[in-house]
Amino acid sequence: MAEAMRHPDIAPALPDQGSPSRGTPDRGLFIKTYGCQMNVYDSGRMADVLAPLGYRLVDDPAGADLIVLNTCHIREKAAEKVYSEIGRLRPLKARRAKAGGRLVIAVAGCVAQAEGEEITRRAPDVDIVLGPQAYHRLPELVALAHRATGSVLDTTFPTEPKFDHLPAALSPSAVSAFLTVQEGCDKFCTFCVVPYTRGAEYSRPVAAVLDEARALVGRGAREIVLLGQNVNAYHGDGAGGAWSLARLIGALARIPGLLRLRYTTSHPLEMNVDLIAAHRDIDILMPHLHLPVQSGSDAVLAAMNRRYRADDYRRIVATLRAARPDIALSGDFIVGFPGETDADFQRTLDLVDAISFAPSFSFKYSPRPGTPGALLPRPVPEALKAERLAVLQARLDAQADAFHRAAIGRRLPVLFDRAGRHPGQRVGRTPYLQTVHVAAEDSVIGTVREVAIVRAHANSLEGRLVLPPAEVAA
Ligand code: 5AD
Ligand code: SF4
Repeated sequence: MAEAMRHPDIAPALPDQGSPSRGTPDRGLFIKTYGCQMNVYDSGRMADVLAPLGYRLVDDPAGADLIVLNTCHIREKAAEKVYSEIGRLRPLKARRAKAGGRLVIAVAGCVAQAEGEEITRRAPDVDIVLGPQAYHRLPELVALAHRATGSVLDTTFPTEPKFDHLPAALSPSAVSAFLTVQEGCDKFCTFCVVPYTRGAEYSRPVAAVLDEARALVGRGAREIVLLGQNVNAYHGDGAGGAWSLARLIGALARIPGLLRLRYTTSHPLEMNVDLIAAHRDIDILMPHLHLPVQSGSDAVLAAMNRRYRADDYRRIVATLRAARPDIALSGDFIVGFPGETDADFQRTLDLVDAISFAPSFSFKYSPRPGTPGALLPRPVPEALKAERLAVLQARLDAQADAFHRAAIGRRLPVLFDRAGRHPGQRVGRTPYLQTVHVAAEDSVIGTVREVAIVRAHANSLEGRLVLPPAEVAA
């Protein structure tokens, strides 16, 4: 990946994680998560490592003793948002100091990794800067910050993986839980900061993944989303040598109580036959795949160092659809990469027309310092990028609409994972990752129920529970 399946600018804080052990003072911990699901997972684990110190998650920064901004560096705006957020926290920190207290501000994640000391220069209110590989050291860094006057920085890439140091979580799991199985990337797409912020590709050992998955299911998870920047390049140590993602999925699918599996984000180059066959053979592997393509032009793909051509992507999709005809595909697209001509852009539109995507993500190219793309000649003017993005998004939106409308009148299994905003409303997902709102009792949460889809909205579906005959008669 760098390519996360969804790119909410701000993911919600994690209210269900991290209860403190008894006998420790209660301290407020506020985590704001930016970027991809990997960051959402990391935020949960940060709450876990801080729980034994008495840190409890709060949903208002005003009640926090420690604020962690878990950042994303994938595009320029995301980093700027972090600096504005730090600015907004300044009065809070000043008020706390005036009252004789201390509010510790930590910047974690990929902006921290990429900018390092620059953050404390630009934002002296920041006490801790820590890269994505240093989360297990948070308790120590927090203690140091309390002692130190300046800020403390940990953006090293330790050889010992952080996963070995993270304690097992005890709190209930979300119905749909993230599980990081792979991190880092060796692909070096020329636009992308991930190989620099997340480091080299690393796969967690099979046994560690299976243990964590069993623990998640034991704590209530019914769906597991396997995460990795390049998740389908997974090659963790297991019995008999390195296991592929397909083999790992096969083993996970045997965990009793686990109803659904997904994985994200994949690189087209790593979509091998075993993984495609898994979509045919493993029924709990959901028929939705996020497979970023970035561009439909071979020249642009080559300049991006994606190492496939548009026709390769078309072929992979055809093979996937032959294996699992109903599979839904979402993509990531970048418009306005340096040198992209009108003809190149047209090829992207042609590819979109040929594939027909489920809801997807598209971005204007944003040159990231330190990446080869930032040095390329023939930048595309901002106005032209914006124009191309609008054209592409209109086309993708039309496909997303058609995709949702095609569900009307169908009966789909929905895994319910939360209450909705309106009274009596429960929310879940179809196998194709569409959000569905239904009027139902709380007891549906954590179960898969058949739902008749009655309406399609821009980003979600509305449905009615199909009750088993016995219940209708009662
Ligand atoms: N500019 C614009 N979009 C980018 N992405 C990654 N880096 C950049 C960049 N420099 C997009 C890609 C990737 C998704 C996570 O973000 O489409 O798949
Ligand atoms: Fe994904 Fe390419 Fe970035 Fe690696 S370098 S994370 S493959 S976009």
